[in-house]
Amino acid sequence: MLAIIGAMDEEIELLLGDLQDRQDITHPGVTLHRGTLDGVPVLVTRGGIGKVNAAMTTTYLLVEGATRVIFTGVAGGVHPDLRVGDIVISTDLVQHDVDVTPLGYEPGTVPGETPAWHADDTLRDIAMQAAQDVEGVNVIAGRVASGDQFIASREGVQRLWKTYAAACAEMEGAAVAQVCAKAGVPFVVIRSISDTADHDANVDYRTFMPLVARHAKQVVRGMLARL
Ligand code: ADE
Repeated sequence: MLAIIGAMDEEIELLLGDLQDRQDITHPGVTLHRGTLDGVPVLVTRGGIGKVNAAMTTTYLLVEGATRVIFTGVAGGVHPDLRVGDIVISTDLVQHDVDVTPLGYEPGTVPGETPAWHADDTLRDIAMQAAQDVEGVNVIAGRVASGDQFIASREGVQRLWKTYAAACAEMEGAAVAQVCAKAGVPFVVIRSISDTADHDANVDYRTFMPLVARHAKQVVRGMLARL
């Protein structure tokens, strides 16, 4: 079954409103919604903010039978070409707040794990096709950098660009990726840009998040039609 996760209400309420035959499944800390969206059987949920919530929610989704996972939401743009409203489809994901460098590991590497988790090629291709239908925005395939930090400075952006060649910064994707990879379940992350992670990021985020969340949702609906 296809699972769709968003971090916040704004990111999934647009999908939940159209969910047919809805059935709620409650686990400690999170409620999953099973139903049919555009004729496709799905599990939809609000996963909460940050890597821990994302990992926990993904685990419950897998236990409930998810065999493909889409994460949808907003992000801070890091790639210099990205503007508010643009869309990033994940090629791979890193955890930019992991630092075991004193023990000789590369920045972002969890000992014993891959330095970056690769999104599924097929889901990524379908997401790219669906994103082309969103009018007036640029779409790029790129690396998503996740961490338990809201990035809001030039230095923060530069670090993610120079160290990881990240396209965008958010707070969940790589945790979803890590859990899915362990289970051998394909995944992709779709992010629309709500801010450019600089000193205006807090204001831009509040202003644009509800608007651009619609773009990511549009991509998800476009994907359902292509699955
Ligand atoms: N999500 C949206 N904007 C973000 C930012 N600047 N940093 C981290 N996560 C975000």
